[in-house]
Amino acid sequence: MDYFAYQNGELWAEQVPLSQIVSDYGSPTFVYSRAAIEDAYQRFDNAFSHHDHRICYAVKANSNLGVLSLLTSLGAGFDIVSGGELERVLKVGAPTDKIVFSGVGKQAWEIEKAILAGIGCFNIESEQELDLISNIATKLDTSAPISIRVNPDVNARTHPYISTGLRENKFGVSSLIAREMYEQASELTHIEIVGIDCHIGSQITDIAPFTEAMQRVVEIVDDLEAIGITLKHIDLGGGIGVQYQDETPIDIEEYAAAILQTLGHRQQSLWFEPGRYIVANAGILLSRVLTLKENEGKHFAVIDAAMNDLIRPALYQSWQKVSEVRLSDSEPRFYELVGPVCETGDFLARDRHLAIEVNALVAIHSVGAYGFVMSSNYNSRSRAAEIIVSGSDAQCVRKRESVEDQLRLESVFRL
Ligand code: LLP
Repeated sequence: MDYFAYQNGELWAEQVPLSQIVSDYGSPTFVYSRAAIEDAYQRFDNAFSHHDHRICYAVKANSNLGVLSLLTSLGAGFDIVSGGELERVLKVGAPTDKIVFSGVGKQAWEIEKAILAGIGCFNIESEQELDLISNIATKLDTSAPISIRVNPDVNARTHPYISTGLRENKFGVSSLIAREMYEQASELTHIEIVGIDCHIGSQITDIAPFTEAMQRVVEIVDDLEAIGITLKHIDLGGGIGVQYQDETPIDIEEYAAAILQTLGHRQQSLWFEPGRYIVANAGILLSRVLTLKENEGKHFAVIDAAMNDLIRPALYQSWQKVSEVRLSDSEPRFYELVGPVCETGDFLARDRHLAIEVNALVAIHSVGAYGFVMSSNYNSRSRAAEIIVSGSDAQCVRKRESVEDQLRLESVFRL
């Protein structure tokens, strides 16, 4: 189902015309479809309905409180990577036992806060981290639930910046070290071993790397079982790719069937940390054309969104679909869509055939994941507003930042 579709020559989000949103809230603005988020979540959930499982949505993909509260209402758990993300999920009333804490550099204050909140699991990345968590749990006179992140050394065949499961990456520990760490952990009085986890990368469009990783993980599960360490869950991380352009996205039913087959007779609960799969295609970025210009035969459309609003094209050469918000009879041309930031790398899309004029609105698609969350104030540009559409209702879930907001924490230097 298409949550962003044309009706009478105008692009809508569910039952709201996008031009209306710009009239009400200005541009650039991120718009998320509630139905799209709910459908993606349900598809994932249903695919595993025959086995005990938990979906811990990766908050880093889109941490807006509106999105997090929506997911809480659907029964989601959360995968967090910082004290800030913990605060966000606590704020929306997430059940604390469904929170997992990932990340390669957890700090003492974050660990303490998470233990006191009663989170479900710490995904441990190193031996020092195991010691640190054990010491903090001892000091607090409680016990911390843990899992060890194994680096299964599989090639996820995705963009090198977002591939994490190869031996040379900074993430997790080798299978050998993991086995030793579990033995150490089983001796610690304030540590409770609950699971094992891995995460091999992001925007993966092939099922094979996932089953390879799962295979390596279950081998460790079996070895541990043989020495009397029983794990309650296996957390396979996130990474399921979506369609941006012409990729064939993973069919979630096939993914589930392959994972369950590798799990076999084992009884562990399956946990997942999807981010992109849940929100990427649920979001668009609305932007207005400021200027059309031609340089050396090349046509540029300068729009009011820039690399500070959406950095994926500049950082990963990502391709994001662009469409006109209102179909027009202007002459269509191939445009490079660029922002007002003073860098040649500031482009949102290249070589797009569009019929647009000055003041026209464009929609940049598939920006629900790693869109707003990666935005910045570069060039002292205020960050965009965020809206969730549900049927004919459009709710602002983050106001547009003002320049005053930007300056609030700074002061001039006293000479
Ligand atoms: N779990 C862990 C431990 C992770 O590091 C990540 C993402 C996820 C789960 C969620 O992965 P997903 O299901 O969303 O693929 N900024 C990049 C993506 C970075 C992903 C980092 N880790 C992008 O815009 O493509």
